[in-house]
Amino acid sequence: MRTDTAPSPIRLRDYTPPAYLVDAVHLTFRLNQTATRVVARLSMRPNPAAEPGQDLRFDGEKLGLIRATIDGQPVQVNPDDTGLTVPAALVPDAPFTWEAEVEIDPTGNTALEGLYMSKGMYCTQCEAEGFRKITYFPDRPDVMATYTVRIEGDAPVMLSNGNPTARGDGWAEWHDPWPKPSYLFALVAGNLVSHDDSFTTRSGRKVDLKIYVRPGDEGKCAYAMDALKRSMRWDEEAYGREYDLDLFMIVAVDDFNMGAMENKGLNIFNAKYVLASPDTATDQDYERIESIIAHEYFHNWTGNRITCRDWFQLCLKEGLTVYRDQQFSGDQRSHAVKRIDDVLMLRARQFREDAGPLAHPVRPVEYVEINNFYTATVYEKGAEVIGMLRRLVGPEAYRRALDLYFERHDGQACTIEDWIAVFEDATGRNLSQFSLWYAQSGTPRVRVQETWKDGVFTLTFSQTLPPTPGQPDKEPMVIPLATALLSPEGAEVVAEQVLELTQARQSFRFEGLSARPVPSINRGFSAPVILEQDMDDARRGFLLAHDTDPFNRWEAGREFARAVLVRMLKDPAHAPEETLLEGLHAVLADETLDPEFRALALRLPTAEEVFDAARRDGQTPDPAMIRQALLRLETALARRIPDLRARLDALAVPGPYSPDAASAGKRALRGRLLALLTRLEPDAATARELFASADNMTETMQALSLLVATGQGAQALARFHERWASEGLVLDKWYAVQASLTPPENAPELVAELAGRADFEWKNPNRFRSLIGAFAANMAGFHRADGAGYRLFADWLIRLDPVNPQTTARVAGAFETWRQFDAGRQALILTQLQRISDTKGLSKDTTEIVGRILE
Ligand code: ARG
Ligand code: ZN
Repeated sequence: MRTDTAPSPIRLRDYTPPAYLVDAVHLTFRLNQTATRVVARLSMRPNPAAEPGQDLRFDGEKLGLIRATIDGQPVQVNPDDTGLTVPAALVPDAPFTWEAEVEIDPTGNTALEGLYMSKGMYCTQCEAEGFRKITYFPDRPDVMATYTVRIEGDAPVMLSNGNPTARGDGWAEWHDPWPKPSYLFALVAGNLVSHDDSFTTRSGRKVDLKIYVRPGDEGKCAYAMDALKRSMRWDEEAYGREYDLDLFMIVAVDDFNMGAMENKGLNIFNAKYVLASPDTATDQDYERIESIIAHEYFHNWTGNRITCRDWFQLCLKEGLTVYRDQQFSGDQRSHAVKRIDDVLMLRARQFREDAGPLAHPVRPVEYVEINNFYTATVYEKGAEVIGMLRRLVGPEAYRRALDLYFERHDGQACTIEDWIAVFEDATGRNLSQFSLWYAQSGTPRVRVQETWKDGVFTLTFSQTLPPTPGQPDKEPMVIPLATALLSPEGAEVVAEQVLELTQARQSFRFEGLSARPVPSINRGFSAPVILEQDMDDARRGFLLAHDTDPFNRWEAGREFARAVLVRMLKDPAHAPEETLLEGLHAVLADETLDPEFRALALRLPTAEEVFDAARRDGQTPDPAMIRQALLRLETALARRIPDLRARLDALAVPGPYSPDAASAGKRALRGRLLALLTRLEPDAATARELFASADNMTETMQALSLLVATGQGAQALARFHERWASEGLVLDKWYAVQASLTPPENAPELVAELAGRADFEWKNPNRFRSLIGAFAANMAGFHRADGAGYRLFADWLIRLDPVNPQTTARVAGAFETWRQFDAGRQALILTQLQRISDTKGLSKDTTEIVGRILE
């Protein structure tokens, strides 16, 4: 039991408008690695919309206050751990100027929030509440101001938001004319070089584009730059949104807690999502770079020009911006493949979250530490909600609603109610029931029943939403299910339409059919629900062969494979059904299908998916057995494809490496075939050959992964390390491949050994995630029955927590599924959770996550 008092939660219902507003911010930084001085001059005034006569409260953490004045007069204030208060009696009842000078320590800031050092360079991360570690400020998103920044220091490059206004020897000045919340402030200073380009907006404004990186990395910016220009064009075409400054900058930093940050005019990125060259980045890396560059750029309108009133509204900007980046990637590549990838990720991360102790609504109603709510639910489910809205109102009405949103709310800090009102006003639709998607947590289950009588086909749906923390009872939701009916020959006899579920139980009738049809329901995964449908293997095989919706076609194969794996788990002698193997082979052999789609169809379910499916079947599955079943199925599939080798050779992509979707798709399919072939080669000969001959990181990693997974990686790993020891992002892959794929027999031991290496720079979040985070995704290794994995994992969380609470809390989420395991494993995990929770001085971040997991 913890004895210290738990920090009390912040609640949505307690929102009150800020007592004072800030119109303009003037900041002067005198940079010093351990003692930076920050002078902040704020033009403030009482908020006419707030109760008058309130105390003036500033947020502030880890600030050494040097002096504070109001209208030039010193004020006596007593800072506490979270800020300082000026009593109302000392605050003018009219506009006034607050000025404070503080001293901060960027080097000591290992939490990477506020102003910190990364490999000798100064950089900032202010979302959500990092600005309060830079100066005293009402650090909340509904306080918006213009910023003028002066940076003094000896770095060759010194950047902040907006436009450069002046510079001299040892100083630079910046001005951002667009009022913004403090979380969008950014500063960067260091020895950086830039990759430059420009973009002309459709109204003819020329925008300078600069990607800043450390010297030596300038050759790895071209793809990010290209993605940026495509994003800028796309936002003009798809949403009518133009960029609004003369300069757009991106900076790559090595030490970063998250993916990237949309600071106005000065996006700061985890270097992993900027830098790419064929020999250091995989196809997947390129794809992630494209989507994150787009995501941060799109925030300029959905997030920056229109921001959030408070952090409960985070999905207002994140759900919408994820939805926008998904649309963009689909347009740039393949919509079908993109949708499958997104759903795989949604199920792996968000459905998992929704089903466990960390479940929360897309718009949470309380939090202890807001950094713990940058979740799959807020982001990915938040995006699903937008997708459903668009499907319900149609693309034209969606565009009209978005136009109205930008027109009505530009320059404001908004709520989900504002967002919903825009759609109601633009379409005339009542969305009160739909709004439950923002309020009710958990993944809806939709059970379907079919009847066929006298030429009438009826689909009857019943929806339920299981209880989740704090929400025992739920209301029915609006669930849009895109549905078509297929003839026994596979023709669409009833074309796709959206069945709109609004009640707990509801039927839809289809008349005039000459034969019993096969329904294809929730096409394109139109609603993020768990569909429970009675399927036999014949039906699964039929849909895998004939469904006219590519998503559902893929889904049928996946579901078939899950069902077969569940049988194999129950009975280790069960041989995989020939109809599944033949169905997958037929997809492979269908040259009219996109290779990337075929690669996805040939991928087996993840161990986690099989675990869930087996639980629904009433089993308490053992991760070690799941691994065995997956290997057996993979081998059976490999044996079923006669011409593996020939197919693999036929897919070789000629010419120099190009990251385009078509080439990447071929490599993906080739990689799948190589994995299958390796099941038939005890010495993994073909993977060895490819490892030796590969001239790009995609194929190198495909080969290396197989060698590691089959326990034959030693030589290749040594060569890889030798070659890439000085490239941090590539070294991360070396750690991750071993942590995630090493067979369970020695996975915890190997991870412990790797963690002891000198180049395991564990304070770097990418490196930590590459070893400790990736290990938790190695299901059989992490969940080894002796508990060695849990112990090691907990040791590292306890070690990282005082250094970097945010990353610790995020990685700790791996324990969220603990109650789904057998009693033995539960007891072992519980011991570790308690040990973490009992750690003296545990951060608020980790305390909240572990506390909720234990509840
Ligand atoms: N707004 C950023 C994005 O989604 C994420 C930043 C989150 N940072 C954090 N410390 N919670 O692009
Ligand atoms: Zn975002």
